[in-house]
Amino acid sequence: MKKSKNTNSASITAVFGAEISSGEFYFIINPDIQGTVPPFREEYIFSIFEFTFTYLKKTNMQTISTYDFAGKKALIRVDFNVPLNDNFEITDDTRIRAAIPTIKKIIEKGGSPIIMSHFGRPKSGPEDKFSMRHLVKHFSNLLGVDVKLAPDCIGEEVKAMAKALKPGEVLLLENLRFHKEEEKGDVEFSRQLAENGDCWVNDAFGTAHRAHASTAVMAQFFPNDKMFGYLIEGEIESLDKVLKNPTRPMTAIMGGAKVSSKITIIENMLDKVDNLIIGGGMTYTFVKANGGKIGNSICEDDYLEMALAIQKKAAEKGVKLYIATDVVAADDFSPEANTQPAPANNIPDGWQGLDAGPETIATFKNVIENSGTILWNGPVGVFEFDKFAVGSRAVAEAIAAATKKGAFSLIGGGDSVACINKFELADQVSYISTAGGALLEYLEGRVLPGVAAVLGE
Ligand code: 3PG
Ligand code: MG
Repeated sequence: MKKSKNTNSASITAVFGAEISSGEFYFIINPDIQGTVPPFREEYIFSIFEFTFTYLKKTNMQTISTYDFAGKKALIRVDFNVPLNDNFEITDDTRIRAAIPTIKKIIEKGGSPIIMSHFGRPKSGPEDKFSMRHLVKHFSNLLGVDVKLAPDCIGEEVKAMAKALKPGEVLLLENLRFHKEEEKGDVEFSRQLAENGDCWVNDAFGTAHRAHASTAVMAQFFPNDKMFGYLIEGEIESLDKVLKNPTRPMTAIMGGAKVSSKITIIENMLDKVDNLIIGGGMTYTFVKANGGKIGNSICEDDYLEMALAIQKKAAEKGVKLYIATDVVAADDFSPEANTQPAPANNIPDGWQGLDAGPETIATFKNVIENSGTILWNGPVGVFEFDKFAVGSRAVAEAIAAATKKGAFSLIGGGDSVACINKFELADQVSYISTAGGALLEYLEGRVLPGVAAVLGE
């Protein structure tokens, strides 16, 4: 989801869809402003817009802004995998809202959007609880159009419904994962999906790490009619601002319980950051590795050596590593636990660290507030229990303060997004990612199949 405040994204999106013609850069400022910039030298452009280099090489690359949707049926892969409560009500519609700008733009340009997504993890065939019917009303309200629901995502009836769509009409296909071929990336299934439309728009960043039929494989049926939607464009642009061309100092705050689940990301980050704050449950693996006494705190004994290796690598690369020096210790993993302050490396027996202590918070705050770029993935305490949310709140507030001073801040991963929402600071950071697993893979430096498929890699 794009936040317009505190970003200078227009300058970077300026070269999306660029073409090189006789020494000039013809560019289209996303979404609508056009112009020519004769004096720009190639090296200049390339050094500033490293990511966009990929686009400049691909002169036939389509974008939502350049593509002619008039009279076309546009197959749009979105990630509507949203949480529902027991009454089948949507409890967080962020992902649906984030897909609306692309869909609206295509309608505005005279196209007929055909929306396709997976929803949950149905095991074998259709299951009512995973039907897209639970989303139709809310989606229609957000879009301001009465969305029609197809009984399936492939087949003659669906094809006829797609064909009959008039410009501005919207069809939502039934859950793609009702066919096991979706997750298998089956080519024949991809072909049948592709038959429903004239072009393919991938706007499902949350699912871009899956090499499924609708997210990657069907690209082959649209060699000249495939493109990213605004959401994916925005996600990649924001992530690349952090990973490839950060304003320094660059700080990553990596939290969460397990070193094992974040190890590849941490290693990748060591090549990019000036400061690395390690928080949350991972703290205690590091503290124990350094000979500290951690009481009952969570710890991965298999990763003690790895923790020391990370410290060594950080030192070699000149990255400043920050780990809690004091904590809030609890006598139980519970919202009502008794607490006492403790040095991180001297937690009494029977007690466990559940939040960062005041000295640690002051250090983290100082580092964050003096950063030019900030990436936050994972809380620094058990923020779900109010008693242990103090550290994560302080991190969120420091990020908001830094953003106000001009830093670019990106929040990603379910828990930190839940944190920033809980503290009502979502509108005070630069960008909040809609992705979970896909974001983690991107941070690990992996190529996402859904992105590669559009780029033609
Ligand atoms: C997600 O929520 O992680 C994405 O929608 C992908 O879903 P999956 O993890 O079931 O593939
Ligand atoms: Mg997932």
